[in-house]
Amino acid sequence: MGIQDIKHQADQLLSLIEQDDSDYATLQSVYLGRNGRLNQLMQLLPSLSPEEKREAGIILNQTRAILSQKIEERRQLGSTTQEYDLTIPGKKPKVGHLHPISQAMNEITRIFERIGFMRVRYPEADWEWFAFDALNMPKDHPARDEWETFWIDTETKHPELGGIVLTPHTSNGQVREMQRLQGKPPIRMINIARCYRRQADVTHTEMFHQFEGLVVDKGITIQHLKGTIDHFAQQFYGPNAKSRIRPFHFMFTEPSFEVDFSCTVCNGTGKIGADKCRFCKSGWHEVGGAGMVHPNVLKAGGIDPAEYTGFAFGWGIERTYTLRQGLKLDDIRLLYSNDLRFLEQF
Ligand code: FA5
Repeated sequence: MGIQDIKHQADQLLSLIEQDDSDYATLQSVYLGRNGRLNQLMQLLPSLSPEEKREAGIILNQTRAILSQKIEERRQLGSTTQEYDLTIPGKKPKVGHLHPISQAMNEITRIFERIGFMRVRYPEADWEWFAFDALNMPKDHPARDEWETFWIDTETKHPELGGIVLTPHTSNGQVREMQRLQGKPPIRMINIARCYRRQADVTHTEMFHQFEGLVVDKGITIQHLKGTIDHFAQQFYGPNAKSRIRPFHFMFTEPSFEVDFSCTVCNGTGKIGADKCRFCKSGWHEVGGAGMVHPNVLKAGGIDPAEYTGFAFGWGIERTYTLRQGLKLDDIRLLYSNDLRFLEQF
């Protein structure tokens, strides 16, 4: 046994420990313990010449230092004897989905596209003229107060189009669509957009969505309006859904209606067993307004009301959607609270 063998065996020890994934305590006893591998090498020293002994002593001390360092590293890391169970399914990354109101917008779009409507989009910050004047609501008319409007702060107003508003309803799209088609019907528009009003309580949000239908052609009547409303109700809520229209007043439609859909919880009966339906109380839910387009609105869009007639409707998406889910949302602001416990249910 000579110095070369000692060198060789010391190198072997160092490469052995590199590949050894035993835990700290095992390494300590196997390599540095009283009967450990390093001590076994030390026992070879007496067989060497004094000169070789000195050299071997240096080598073995260095080896001890390196082994101690490796073992200490292992102690700090904890045991590397990790057991991997490759049969356990991996952790899936969280994947989001469209917001329930976006899902509703896509679905509403598809329902109307299938019967020949075309989805359009118009500015969310629009001239006052499109939101009010063109809709037969003259300046200073008290009816405007119902659309509790956000105004954009501008230094001057346009001489004809007035100030700029955050659209309080999607009806601004009516005359814009008539103008886009240069006053030449047929028009079958579905305008879905964000709307803004100075309202915030359990049934109102400052930002909400409406979808507005507008149909203008020769010979359009209330029957077409009612048929379209019924079609939507059945497609969106199911084949048993019914709709009804009640007389109402809007400046831009004549006659005007409020539109109700039958309650999805009690099937429009207003009763669950012997009790009143707590969701609707009457069998019906109001979703928005509708009516036959006022002749002044057709004129504002460059259409001759003697030749053409039309109908329009505008409904809240939040309202329409939550009815379908049979969700008794105590507070519709929940839809925009970004609370995943709520959103993940959709
Ligand atoms: C209108 O906005 C009319 N432009 C609808 C219309 C269009 C009538 C075309 C005739 C022809 P109204 O202000 O009632 O009408 O609003 C319609 C619906 O929008 C309401 O029934 C409600 O569902 C929804 N809505 C209105 N304000 C809010 C709000 N702040 N938060 C949530 N939903 C709202």
